[in-house]
Amino acid sequence: MKIGIFDSGIGGLSVLHEAYHLLPKQEFIFYADTENVPYGTKTPEQIVGYATKITDFLIEKGAGAIVVACNTATSVAIKELRKNYNIPILGMEPAVKPAVEGTEGKRIMVIATPVTIRQDKLKDLLHRVDEEHRVDLLAMPKLVEFAEREEFESEAVREYITQQFGAFDKEKYCALVLGCTHFNYFKPLYREYFGQETLLIDGNRGTVRHLADVLSLDMAQDIDMSFDKDNEMSWMNNTKYYFFGKEITGGETLQHLKRLHLRLEKVRNF
Ligand code: DGL
Repeated sequence: MKIGIFDSGIGGLSVLHEAYHLLPKQEFIFYADTENVPYGTKTPEQIVGYATKITDFLIEKGAGAIVVACNTATSVAIKELRKNYNIPILGMEPAVKPAVEGTEGKRIMVIATPVTIRQDKLKDLLHRVDEEHRVDLLAMPKLVEFAEREEFESEAVREYITQQFGAFDKEKYCALVLGCTHFNYFKPLYREYFGQETLLIDGNRGTVRHLADVLSLDMAQDIDMSFDKDNEMSWMNNTKYYFFGKEITGGETLQHLKRLHLRLEKVRNF
């Protein structure tokens, strides 16, 4: 069975990349809604509409399960999708629980899109797990735009990050939760800002584990992804990639995808 993974854009690749490590034999169909990115500034109705169209598309292409590799779409559309489709549909939410349970005392910063931050889903989650009120929320919508432009370490990104985090006292934080899949690309910059001690927590490994569980798939031992000299990434062959309904089979867009996977490999364990 093929697994469909979608996001507004290239953020969802970080989930797919993790799946390559843990489910190397699995076939995937990846969809980036590149005409409608960013979702983080759209209305819930618009996002539900996009998510429904993409789910139809992925099922039509043979997906037997769907991963909504987007915290924003999950926060507004997951209920609707589960109600309307009779296949496993997995979502993502900021990994607040592991952050709260895995740390003590100091504060935790959750960064996400404005939509994710406004939704009740996140408020309910905080209500359930953040008993000591250690969590602060911060919207960073511009990081989505920087990521889409493949601008991961420019002065402009650094400035944006410094300015957004600048409103908080960084000494008080022990963990930063990446509540948007696009935010994974910037791990070295968070590290630079917060230093070595602060945990960077994303939900990707948890999502892939959950997927394996739900579909009873055997997980690999976290395989070593080797990239040969020619930059051939044979593991990408297990996947059909679509950008807004158009299959990517070559050209600059395929090179773009390869560069993104290389970046994700580089920042994976930061
Ligand atoms: N990657 C998305 C997320 O996880 C959404 C980014 C956007 O389109 O605003 O929230």
